[in-house]
Amino acid sequence: DIGDIERAMHGAAAMGRNFRRVLLGFGVVIEVAKGDIRALGGERQRGGTPNAARPTGDERDFPREFHAGLPCCQVMLPLDRRGTKLRAMRIARNLADLREAVADLRASHGAIALVPTMGALHAGHRALVRAAVASGAATVTSIFVNPLQFAANEDLARYPRDEAADLAILEASGCALAWLPDVKTMYPPDDATTISVTGPAENWEGAVRPGHFRGVATVCAKLFGQVRPDRAYFGEKDWSQLQVIHRMVADIMLPLTIEAVETVREWDGLAMSSRNRFLDETDRVVRAPLLHQVLIDVAGQLGDGDAAEAPLIEARRWLTEAGFAVDYLALVHGPTLKELPAAASGARLIAAARLAAVRLLDNVAV
Ligand code: PAF
Repeated sequence: DIGDIERAMHGAAAMGRNFRRVLLGFGVVIEVAKGDIRALGGERQRGGTPNAARPTGDERDFPREFHAGLPCCQVMLPLDRRGTKLRAMRIARNLADLREAVADLRASHGAIALVPTMGALHAGHRALVRAAVASGAATVTSIFVNPLQFAANEDLARYPRDEAADLAILEASGCALAWLPDVKTMYPPDDATTISVTGPAENWEGAVRPGHFRGVATVCAKLFGQVRPDRAYFGEKDWSQLQVIHRMVADIMLPLTIEAVETVREWDGLAMSSRNRFLDETDRVVRAPLLHQVLIDVAGQLGDGDAAEAPLIEARRWLTEAGFAVDYLALVHGPTLKELPAAASGARLIAAARLAAVRLLDNVAV
């Protein structure tokens, strides 16, 4: 009954916050906005037409995953698009179980794809998992909040964690194996090796967060060694991270390919991020989407060979006046992150800016 669905969806508000509209499979349209959930059609308007527009893009497959977090609706989960039973996702919490599961998956699928995450999964992560699954490989997703990539003054303790919701999302997205190591497994007491990264790790994000990419590179190298994937999937939203990982894999000649997946955005352009949930109402609704709009605006001003300085100065001023503390907004060569004076092929606009304690990252091609 629709009351049960509404109550269950309120219970899952953490997952629902960012979705404006959800079309449930049996003709009930539920509007989800900032945790305020209203039923718009279906049972209560029996005989009437559900009155919300059809959902678009990513929202379309949300319900199946949403149900996964809702005990009352779990009966709807085990059907995939063809109506056949989904295979149960395996979960490994120690290296022995991981090795056994990966060996089975390699035997059954041939190729293995890895999606490294820190949990608090959202539509951006789902896009990574879906791309990995679509490649035909058995998909392994790791969830590990990596202490080595957080500085002492950063948000390790308050980094969002919701294992049950994450596992439900992974299972519904077709992930074959969830790898959930603990800190001792990733960093045993006698651990003495880290990966030192330079080049794209030194500027911009790397300069604002010293040591961050050493932590990212180290944990990814360990995950690659544990899972031995044929390919690993990373989002373009963390553009600097993607370049650091590309560089590391090339430099230490790891036998896998890195696949980049386009940034998934909220309806208003804000790049999906686990940290968006910490934005207050005004910052989320009014200010946060401006970051992407400014990037699009500057990119639109930069034809091939056009000098970047004046539009960048103006854009930084504009963001500052709108309430952002701008860490950087720069035109760079995409793969190396070297600053470019003018637009050229392969150029990328990258930005990081803070609203109160929340750091937002974004980038666009020029
Ligand atoms: O992008 C992230 O979530 C993390 O930096 C990663 C790649 C999982 C490493 O901890």
